[in-house]
Amino acid sequence: MSLVMKQIPLGVQTETKPIAFHGHIGKDLLTISGLSTGLVETIFETAAAWKAEPAAYHGVLSGKSVVMLFEKPSLRTRVTFDIGLSKLGAHVVYLDHGQQRLGERESVKDYAKNLERWADAIVARVFSHDVLDELAENASIPVVNALSDLEHPCQALADLFTLQERLGTLAGRKLAYVGDGNNVCHSLLLCSAMLGVNMSVVTPKGFEPKYHVVRQALRLAEQSGATITLSNTLDAIAGHDAVYTDTWVSMGQGHQEGLRKDSFVGFQIDDEVMAMASNGIDGGAVFLHCLPAHRGEEVVDTVIDASYSLVYEQAENRMHVQNALMMMLLSETGR
Ligand code: CP
Ligand code: NVA
Repeated sequence: MSLVMKQIPLGVQTETKPIAFHGHIGKDLLTISGLSTGLVETIFETAAAWKAEPAAYHGVLSGKSVVMLFEKPSLRTRVTFDIGLSKLGAHVVYLDHGQQRLGERESVKDYAKNLERWADAIVARVFSHDVLDELAENASIPVVNALSDLEHPCQALADLFTLQERLGTLAGRKLAYVGDGNNVCHSLLLCSAMLGVNMSVVTPKGFEPKYHVVRQALRLAEQSGATITLSNTLDAIAGHDAVYTDTWVSMGQGHQEGLRKDSFVGFQIDDEVMAMASNGIDGGAVFLHCLPAHRGEEVVDTVIDASYSLVYEQAENRMHVQNALMMMLLSETGR
């Protein structure tokens, strides 16, 4: 199937750009494992085309409405979806669930059954991934995971897209993730395995990624030829193209702050760690972080502010990959 870009309004002429989809995207994007290598490549191709020529995509989602439900705070996810969708001509309604969890005022099922009558898609950031599953099961419209306790798929797509932009190719590259085996780590593991990126995960004991996610990633890696290694010592960081870290205390884990900060001593990314990681080619390893960063905790200023740090490119690319994704999800449903 293909998506045909509209003429730009206001009389500016452009070529109509068909984009070939490699495979069929499902109704929702709840986890990276709902995608395939071909679909991720299509998202990246569309994102690159949109980034290079945004005017060609103005208005392609005109008349569509997207509801954003957020139980947790956000800068990047909220702004990139809102501004990105506005650029495509869609209307966004933001529902702040910071004070009231989904399911408290009325059932998640009723929420889904109401929203599907008005909106064309739901973008949701939730504490429990089960709530996303329940929304998706009950809504006939696409549901997109904007971060749950289990995964952050839009982030991983933007991260791998950023790495591809910088390194040219992804297959066979080496990505080291240091820190908590959390939602961001899970989506990165699955996306890297799908794209043939060799990933080393370095965590303190007890903070490894979930076993069932690692198993899923290993299955994907078998098909792509990628390797996945788990380690509890920083020695494993040697010889990588990129080093990634995230907060030691994710949203919803505030009650564990003391324990976590004690457990992660020795896992901070500083200049010495970056030097250890260097593969000795292409000017050393690049640094990635989904943000928000806790400067002086998981990463020091001299690393996050270094010329090899791609953190703001990652943030920018959130918008490009999400726009590509939303164009695909909304054209698949034909709504
Ligand atoms: N990286 C990310 O999702 O940032 P926000 O929490 O600000 O949305
Ligand atoms: N792991 C972090 C990511 C924030 C974008 C969290 O869940 O809070």
